Amino acid sequence: MRITFIEADGKEHEVEAEEGQSVMQAAVNNLVPGILAECGGFASCATCHAYIDEPWLGKLPPPDVAEEGMIECAFHVRPSSRLTCQLQVTPALDGLVARLPVSQT
Ligand code: FES
Repeated sequence: MRITFIEADGKEHEVEAEEGQSVMQAAVNNLVPGILAECGGFASCATCHAYIDEPWLGKLPPPDVAEEGMIECAFHVRPSSRLTCQLQVTPALDGLVARLPVSQT
């Protein structure tokens, strides 16, 4: 599956992601700048925050309590904000576009 990360300055990084891994892992494995993932994927740092474009946003399961709570602590939150460590790659997410907030540059 392909995932495109777009930095706040518009720089695009298209990466290959495997089913079952998290969107965050796909970014880290490909050294995408701006996804620091300091907590390692435990929904407790928000350094994997990204805005998810439609139509993929609507295909994602809603955030659980831990993700929702952590997003409240993130910077520049929008309705499309998600923690990419909590998003599991599935075939339905092929082509997903994740935009990074200006605070993660
Ligand atoms: Fe820390 Fe996602 S990696 S919240």
